[in-house]
Amino acid sequence: MAGKTCFMAGATSGINQQVARRFAMAGANLFVISRSEDKVSATVEELRTLGAQADGASVDVRDYDKVAKAAQKCVSLYGKIDMVLAGQAGNFLAPAAGMSANAFKSVIDIDLLGSFNVFRASVEHLNRPGASLIAITAPQATNPMPYQTHVCAAKAGVNMLVKALAMEWGPSGIRVNAISPGPIDDTEGMRRLAGDEKIAAKYKQALALRRWGSKDDIANAALFLCTPEGAYITGTIMEVDGGISLGDASSALPM
Ligand code: NAP
Ligand code: COA
Repeated sequence: MAGKTCFMAGATSGINQQVARRFAMAGANLFVISRSEDKVSATVEELRTLGAQADGASVDVRDYDKVAKAAQKCVSLYGKIDMVLAGQAGNFLAPAAGMSANAFKSVIDIDLLGSFNVFRASVEHLNRPGASLIAITAPQATNPMPYQTHVCAAKAGVNMLVKALAMEWGPSGIRVNAISPGPIDDTEGMRRLAGDEKIAAKYKQALALRRWGSKDDIANAALFLCTPEGAYITGTIMEVDGGISLGDASSALPM
């Protein structure tokens, strides 16, 4: 990845921050955006200590003009963009009947519209052929879950966004994929969905691998999708999920 540039949304904490660290260690130049100025500057500083050229900007992905300005700044610093990560998301548990329209809209706008904005603002700056675009989706895109209607709808949209863009942009040498992480240890996502120990234990029991994944599991998948080894992969939803997409494995008989 030496000399390649990655424009990354939502890489200032959790899973995507680990992707940024991994890309930094592989030699990439990085431009990170998220809302919090403090999180952006702390991440940029850390990526620089890992030896990367890194910069960033405080941007809400719902604001297209600001995303476009950030992509422009990324290009002015490092030249064309080789890789894009749309990893930002919002999540909370909420019953549909008690949730406001604005709560539903917030998650659709952050996850789905935000991913469109990040890809749309990057496309004219992409180094092609060979550019690799990755969205971070979730098992909720295909496994309906109660209290997650907003996330299910948003991430289902992300999956289809990725597939449609892969068809539309493939002919010009742009690959578009998504990674669907299962429950990942020590993340804000799992604190929100399974903060309680009893729920967490039940969650693990339902997984084929009976354990949560690590942020490195997702960073490895992202790295693979951006290296020449992944050059023929496009329009894929790569499940890195311990088997959660297979369904509830808690009643599987021991071999
Ligand atoms: P996280 O630590 O909360 O990371 C979310 C990131 O998105 C942060 O950098 C946050 O920074 C940024 N962000 C949020 N809203 C934004 C907005 N409107 N504009 C710009 N940036 C915004 O979450 P995580 O648990 O690591 O999850 C990361 C991704 O993995 C998400 O796409 C999530 O759906 C997916 N995922 C996670 C799990 C899991 O087990 N955690 C499982 C399946 C899928 P700011 O606060 O500074 O904006
Ligand atoms: N239950 C029901 N509604 C909720 C809620 C909850 N737990 N949390 C927020 N909302 C509602 C708010 O009440 C508001 O609706 P209203 O205007 O009708 O009152 C709406 O959602 C937007 O909330 P707001 O705080 O203004 O949104 P925001 O854009 O500042 O933040 C969130 C977005 C709500 C998704 C926030 O949780 C967030 O920033 N999340 C990012 C981190 C994250 O979720 N990480 C996990 C990723 S898997």
